[in-house]
Amino acid sequence: MKYGFFDDQACEYVITTPKTPLPWINYLGNKEFFTLISNTCGGYTFFKDAKLLRLTRYRYNNVPYDNNGKYFYIKDTTDSTNEVIWNPGWQPVKTALDSYECRHGLGYSKFTSTKNDVKAELLTFVPMNDNCEVSKITVTNNKNTAAKLSLFSYVEWCLWNADDDMKNFQRNLSIGEVEVVNGGSAIFHKTEYRERRNHYAVYGVNTAVDGFDTSRDAFLGAYNGPDSPDVVADGKCTGSIASGWSPIASQQINIELAPGESKTFIFTLGYIENPLDEKWEAPGVINKKRAFEMLDNYKTVEAVDKALAELNDYWKNLLTIYHVSSSNEKVDRMVNIWNQYQCMVTFNMSRSASYYESGIGRGMGFRDSCQDLLGFVHLIPDRARQRIIDIASTQFQDGSAYHQYQPLTKKGNSDIGSGFNDDPLWLIAGTSAYIRETGDLSILKEMVPFDNDMSVAKTLMEHLKCSFNFTATHKGPHGLPLIGRADWNDCLNLNCFSEHPGESFQTFGPSEGPVAESVFIAGMFVKYGEEYAQLAELLGDNAEAERARAEVKKVYDATCTAGWDGEWFVRAYDAYSNKVGSKECEEGQIYIEPQGFCVLAGIGVEEGLAAKALKSVEERLDTKYGVMIFQPAYTKYHLELGEVSSYPPGYKENGGIFCHNNPWVSIAETVLGHGNRAFEIYKKTCPAYIEDISEIHCTEPYVYSQMVAGKDAKFFGQGKNSWLTGTAAWTFVNISQYILGVYPTHNGLSINPCVPADFGDFSLTRKYRGATYNISVKQNGAEKGIKKLVVNGKEIEGNIIPYDESVKEYTVEAIMG
Ligand code: GLC
Ligand code: GLC
Repeated sequence: MKYGFFDDQACEYVITTPKTPLPWINYLGNKEFFTLISNTCGGYTFFKDAKLLRLTRYRYNNVPYDNNGKYFYIKDTTDSTNEVIWNPGWQPVKTALDSYECRHGLGYSKFTSTKNDVKAELLTFVPMNDNCEVSKITVTNNKNTAAKLSLFSYVEWCLWNADDDMKNFQRNLSIGEVEVVNGGSAIFHKTEYRERRNHYAVYGVNTAVDGFDTSRDAFLGAYNGPDSPDVVADGKCTGSIASGWSPIASQQINIELAPGESKTFIFTLGYIENPLDEKWEAPGVINKKRAFEMLDNYKTVEAVDKALAELNDYWKNLLTIYHVSSSNEKVDRMVNIWNQYQCMVTFNMSRSASYYESGIGRGMGFRDSCQDLLGFVHLIPDRARQRIIDIASTQFQDGSAYHQYQPLTKKGNSDIGSGFNDDPLWLIAGTSAYIRETGDLSILKEMVPFDNDMSVAKTLMEHLKCSFNFTATHKGPHGLPLIGRADWNDCLNLNCFSEHPGESFQTFGPSEGPVAESVFIAGMFVKYGEEYAQLAELLGDNAEAERARAEVKKVYDATCTAGWDGEWFVRAYDAYSNKVGSKECEEGQIYIEPQGFCVLAGIGVEEGLAAKALKSVEERLDTKYGVMIFQPAYTKYHLELGEVSSYPPGYKENGGIFCHNNPWVSIAETVLGHGNRAFEIYKKTCPAYIEDISEIHCTEPYVYSQMVAGKDAKFFGQGKNSWLTGTAAWTFVNISQYILGVYPTHNGLSINPCVPADFGDFSLTRKYRGATYNISVKQNGAEKGIKKLVVNGKEIEGNIIPYDESVKEYTVEAIMG
């Protein structure tokens, strides 16, 4: 069952009922000012850091689920015997609407609803060049009589630190402060500005207003929620000035509309920082100059439309960098629009703020951010460059790394510390992807601090060497890399041995053990060790490349011996040197990660192990909704395995379909030339392909979720944790670089598709290092293999179009067969 449809022309998903199985959200903002907005206008806003600078309050863990947002109330008093109060997004009043539509687009959301012949159109977006969210609301009277309406706005301020805001009531209920000017058309939230903050927030509207409120209790009534505000029921604001308790901003505009008449109002929610010496206008009065300048930018409909057009152009431009036209509209819409959009959202948010990540927990993950980069580096290479430097700056001198850092301070997070032994190698993955995309070797020569200490800075290449050496020198009894706290699978905690509830699996126990080893990290080492060797070669250091390859060879061999179980790759060795992910185990016999990653790294391809491993995956892990992380799921808690066995069977890392690693298996299939199977795996978790089962899948049909419940779970097929997942980057890498086969190498683009036999011909535009490549692929029913490659009229040898700085347009014909 569907709850909407894709409008590919407009690059929008159109939701046709507010009652989606879960809130279906969108992200607004491209630089530092961000909003999460649901299909019923729920959500919140923050500046840079969802924990430390939260502008508006949201209530996670509430009922109903999606509670608090930026709401508009329309009170229609035209017929005094039948007054009605409704919201364009249906929530929070939930008055049945005569029509409802929500369009989530690229960086904006639009709502159109009607009630009793009044139409409301609401457009909300964050403009490219200001720290604010603009909401344009147009109200139209379609009655054949004059309409009498009141429009009420409503935002609830968060007292900046979202964590403290939820806990520290003894202080916080006394600190709220506001200022109101121009009769209420601009309301300022200035809590803590009197002391150490030099920022405030403003909520303004481009018209004179008929009233305002800034105290939540005055607006709602002490015993009401946003679903039944007293003020709206009374039809009259009280002019309250908040002092402590919970400050809000609400404006009232009374509107009379002749039949057919429309009126438009523009509301702007902004964040302002003042220099220390310009904080005040008069004692106790905040300096509002910058706020008014910002509000002035969005005073007219023309200005708002222009700002929206800028945003649209920005996206239009970005989406020309990789664009495919095939006979398969679902592939086209995911590749050309939604998958790339989600990659950008993971760039902006990492794992911090979604409807499943509270914004107060994790900041930026080291491994997560490095992997996210693989999905957006082609879109925003300059920002990817900065991100790499930021991430590398949180590395330690021995190559290990803080597992997380806060985006505001860019400092490593000592609460969680280090010890996740896959982290160092992801830095190589991200850097290599950046250089293959841009050819910018200068990044390797940048001086980058360790643990943010510039006095011990070394070049980025030295950082990568530390990464490489960390794995090379931390190996266990079988010559396989030590796992530390965990590798990619945060929940496989082989050195943890936690016995008491409440202990964090991520931090309990030693960060390292001398025995527990990871075959997954071995696969990573083979893959990224080779990429490291290539970087050394590019810098002319052939001796280092040779040394690296010799180290890689050792791990490769250990993987094919100690890492091989007979029909598939072993997952790990635990602290007692027992196998994890082996036929010897009672549960958890075969894990997906080493099958996918070892094969995509090329391990066992020649030896015939790779094909066997993937066959085993198909036989033992496949389901109609995707490939499960392992089987059989753990039915009881295993002290020696940790969190992985803490989840009920079928959920999350305990036998769920962890979407992130499905593309690894799909890529692995392309390495073996299996286009049919690679695509089959791709389709199973691909949002556009499962739109029809939204009632089962539940999460947004335009983005990936981290997890879909596995076959052991009660709700098999149900998605959870949408948006902020490495699945976005990896599925984009899979479809764009492996299945459609346009892969950036150091020497130029390689063209080597691996598609299902009935995929058909397709064409692609790829902008790469300043040139445009117009590529057309004749498939001839082949799953893989390029028979002929013609570049600008000349046939070339091999698959790689040699990069030539002087050529700006390439016409490429690829003939498969
Ligand atoms: C979560 C984490 C990611 C980890 C994965 C598997 O998605 O963000 O870092 O690799 O879970 O445990
Ligand atoms: C839990 C989750 C895992 C996530 C980790 C982050 O272990 O199961 O997916 O990566 O928390 O802290």
